[in-house]
Amino acid sequence: MAQPIYLDYNGTTPHAPEVIEAMRPFLEQEFGNPSSSHWYGIAPKQAVEQARRQVAGLLNCEADEVVFTSGGTESNNHAIKGIARAKRELGNHIITSDIEHPAVLEVCRSLAEDGFETTLLPVDRSGLVDPIELEKAIRPGTILISIMHSNNEVGTLQPIAEISAIARSRGITMHSDAAQSVGKVGVDVRALGVDLLSVAGHKLYAPKGVGALYIRNGVQPAKFCHGAGQERGWRAGTENVLEIAGLGKACEIAGRDLEGQGSRMRSLRDRLHQGLIEALGSAVALNGHPEKRLPNTLSLGFRGLAANRILEEIGLDIAASPGAACHSDQVDISHVLQAMGIEPEWAMGTLRFSLGRMTTAAEIDRALTVIIAAVRKLKG
Ligand SMILES: Cc1ncc(COP(=O)(O)O)c(C=O)c1O
Repeated sequence: MAQPIYLDYNGTTPHAPEVIEAMRPFLEQEFGNPSSSHWYGIAPKQAVEQARRQVAGLLNCEADEVVFTSGGTESNNHAIKGIARAKRELGNHIITSDIEHPAVLEVCRSLAEDGFETTLLPVDRSGLVDPIELEKAIRPGTILISIMHSNNEVGTLQPIAEISAIARSRGITMHSDAAQSVGKVGVDVRALGVDLLSVAGHKLYAPKGVGALYIRNGVQPAKFCHGAGQERGWRAGTENVLEIAGLGKACEIAGRDLEGQGSRMRSLRDRLHQGLIEALGSAVALNGHPEKRLPNTLSLGFRGLAANRILEEIGLDIAASPGAACHSDQVDISHVLQAMGIEPEWAMGTLRFSLGRMTTAAEIDRALTVIIAAVRKLKG
């Protein structure tokens, strides 16, 4: 049986062939510890430092501003808890948004136990934070602003440069969770003006379990993981050389192909969107910003239908993600769609289709046929 068409690249991505090749020596031969001063440590150490330069090249920062972590969740924990602890004398207030990933929201929630307070900013119907509202939320004890660069469910891109400028003018540290953006759109930490930025390897064709945190030189979050002092003391523990080499190569490829892949994905995504509108008309609606959005992401509400039911119909042919989970007696709508004020009749029938490097036009045309047939069947 053929595998379903993979349209869940925001969930995770397959390994790019070049990433596999970059990792192969560290699976097969180069087992050494990068901290060893003997011969076996040389190649692993060089690989980690090369990867650091590759990540820095994509983010437009210095190599020594990149710390390797186990992924987006750890990078967010490191940034938010690290700044909270480091700046606790200056205040206890954090600003973030209603539509962050749990890897930010839960971190802020956990800090409440230590006396920190969090303001959750609302978003508009397209998922945008309003910088004016953000500025109003600043108070004397505000030490950190953490706003995601792009949303994982609907793809909306936030005005991070504008928000960072506000943060800087008020002496507040600025973090952005860019787990979904890196590799899909340009992420230039200097242009964005952020102090810290999180990267997740498995969203850009590197393995799961590796990521990075950009820490601008001069910014001093509290140390996260204590031990033998690897990663210049920020994050102790013997480096995951294999996956770090993969992340480095993934960043190199992402930078090389960014423009070409971006426009290719946008046109395939819009082909899927247009095809569904032509066939289903007003029964389908876009969630997220029409333009300020990741080029690969298409979150669509199918009015009056349940996401789970559509996925049951299409599941043998297409792998996509629901925006709501139906249980026997209730529907759990995602916190992102709720915060955007999407009406339940649309939100409960929301699916996220996210495309990637390996998506082909033939797959999109096949997906169109399958989705249209399923929606027509369910609508009777
Ligand atoms: C926006 C965002 N932040 C953080 C994460 C967590 O990253 P990781 O899976 O690498 O821990 C994800 C993963 O889905 C994400 O989409």
